[in-house]
Amino acid sequence: MRNVIIFGTNRGIGLALVKEYLSKGDKVWALCRSASEELKNTEAKIIEGVEVTDFKKIQKLAQELKDLRFDVFIHNAGIWTDEEIMGASEKDFQDMSRAFEVNSIAPLKTVSAFLPLLAKGAKIGLMSSQMGSIDDNSSGGRYAYRMSKAALNAAGKSLAIDLPEFVVATLHPGYVRTDMTKGNGFIETGESAAGLYQVLENLDSIGAGKLWNYRGEIIPY
Ligand SMILES: NC(=O)c1ccc[n+]([C@@H]2O[C@H](COP(=O)([O-])OP(=O)(O)OC[C@H]3O[C@@H](n4cnc5c(N)ncnc54)[C@H](OP(=O)(O)O)[C@@H]3O)[C@@H](O)[C@H]2O)c1
Repeated sequence: MRNVIIFGTNRGIGLALVKEYLSKGDKVWALCRSASEELKNTEAKIIEGVEVTDFKKIQKLAQELKDLRFDVFIHNAGIWTDEEIMGASEKDFQDMSRAFEVNSIAPLKTVSAFLPLLAKGAKIGLMSSQMGSIDDNSSGGRYAYRMSKAALNAAGKSLAIDLPEFVVATLHPGYVRTDMTKGNGFIETGESAAGLYQVLENLDSIGAGKLWNYRGEIIPY
């Protein structure tokens, strides 16, 4: 039985990932700000009060769990922002900064704090997005979301180089029906989580530092 830790598990894809790993017989630590009833109804070890931008809290948590070793580490928590650049307001730019805090910097905080708790060869999955691919951008807009996920992709690449003892990759879950997409999308959370599980299972040092979609295809940066 492996130990799996997932940040951002209250709902959506994070919750589906918790269920996916549990269904494979893994032991899952589900971290969230506040647990939903659906999460509480799983067998996961739930830890609430985890705001991923709060480095002190993340470090304290890592200290509390220091005797554990995790085989799989997933940072799933992320936020969506959508803004018009023409006539953007001060508030729009504050929201953009928040997108970077949550989508780009927080995953580095959680990885950094939990490095001593990762088993040799552990898989590290950082939930990014195809929208962070500059190469794939054919529709414009969504500045902060695209920029913050592109920054996360850059971080994933550096982490893969700097941490050869682990296997690090950024992930695209597909266009998934969740709160973030207001229920729009091509697939349900379960299909996304099943695909992401397999991607991380198959991931090796050759595939590290790349952006993978849930179907096991590499998306160009
Ligand atoms: N859905 C898609 O089509 C899609 C496509 C590409 C990428 N993604 C990425 O996949 C991930 C999950 O998306 P989703 O669709 O499942 O979104 P979601 O339904 O909006 O869920 C987002 C999750 O992130 C958590 N979260 C957000 N900010 C947080 C913070 N500051 N501290 C702790 N937890 C925080 C939320 O917790 P609370 O409940 O406490 O807010 C929630 O559990 C995100 O990184 C997203 O960018 C999604």
